[in-house]
Amino acid sequence: MSTAAVLHVAGARPNFPKAAPVIRALDRFGIRQRLIHTGQHYDERMSDVFFRQLGLREPDINLGVGSGSHASQTAAIMTHLEELLVADPPELTVIYGDVNSALAAALVATKLHIPVAHVEAGLRSFDRSMPEEVNRIVVDRVSDLLFATSPDAAVHLGNEGIAADRIYLVGNPMIDTLLDNLDRFDIAGIRAALALPDRYIVATLHRPANVDDPVDANDLVKAMHSVADQIPVILPLHPRGRSHLENAGLLSHRALRVVEPLGYIEFVSLVRGAAAVVTDSGGVQEETTMLGVPCLTLRPNTERPITITHGTNRLVSRAALAEVVASTLKAERPATWRTPPLWDGKAGERIAEVIAGELGL
Ligand code: UD1
Ligand code: UDP
Repeated sequence: MSTAAVLHVAGARPNFPKAAPVIRALDRFGIRQRLIHTGQHYDERMSDVFFRQLGLREPDINLGVGSGSHASQTAAIMTHLEELLVADPPELTVIYGDVNSALAAALVATKLHIPVAHVEAGLRSFDRSMPEEVNRIVVDRVSDLLFATSPDAAVHLGNEGIAADRIYLVGNPMIDTLLDNLDRFDIAGIRAALALPDRYIVATLHRPANVDDPVDANDLVKAMHSVADQIPVILPLHPRGRSHLENAGLLSHRALRVVEPLGYIEFVSLVRGAAAVVTDSGGVQEETTMLGVPCLTLRPNTERPITITHGTNRLVSRAALAEVVASTLKAERPATWRTPPLWDGKAGERIAEVIAGELGL
């Protein structure tokens, strides 16, 4: 008998808040589980802090692959994981989101005839210049169980020819984690800890299309400075963009403060208390929607349109950012807001029920 019935593969920051509720719910079924950390993200603030704050079980193995080009990172994960899965195959592999760790695990497992469950299936930006879009398409194509966070995602999967009985609309496990921790998001505490005024904007920036090319980075820095002309900005900066953004003069505006990436509890506290958020993150579009915080997404498209139709999200170009921030800051924040269907804190449980059924429990 293999060591675990269910093997989870996670490796990058946004994977951890998605995996935590699924693992917890499977524990309640008494299912034997293992967690493999690929090591795609490895800084304390990009990885360990999530395990501590979310009570996520320690990884059984860390592959320690680290950073690299897409091919070298994906290949390194595949090579290490293949050895482990051949030696000790689980009954099911669970992967999360659209990162290279998910792509690598899906390819390895499916070729070893180990069924794959994809959490956050069906999201599409229809923009293949995003590495994540390529990962999403490939992963969904080879997955056996597809767990969608929103109705549009389930529709995309159907349109791509995936049989309806493999698609489960379950809600959003990242939102399970947010709702589980609502009491811990302390706005006054984080403002005091970071010496912030009552009104501020939080920013996060890491998409290749914004930070990889020095010309884009220059443009982005100008846009962010035009925001800081209006309101203090705090930017917990992802390591990816740091050098290009700093070379473009990011640090030269007194009202724009750059800090290291924050722990999950500190970060969401900061978001909860913000006048608005400027971001290119996927997960942050969802968290702001749930918290009713205006979100200005610096991208031409989103794979999460439900955060626009049912939430607080709005796509903004770098050129229009200053003007949109000005109008956002003038508008009253609504006292109540809609949230997407099934974003109710029970996605992990729904996923666990399907998996348990699949395992014959
Ligand atoms: C990855 C995901 C992206 C996700 C993001 C979340 C892919 C293709 N991209 O992008 O979808 O939105 O994670 O944060 O999987 N680095 C460090 N320390 C770390 C990790 C990374 O310094 O702990 C630096 C390295 O210079 C590295 C760069 O960040 O080269 C990029 O890391 P990588 O994992 O390749 O991609 P992300 O941009 O983080
Ligand atoms: N996050 C965090 N600290 C930060 C920035 C983000 O804890 O300084 C959390 C955020 O709340 C969300 C997740 O990281 O849960 C999103 O990850 P990221 O933006 O890196 O990836 P994406 O969602 O774009 O793939």
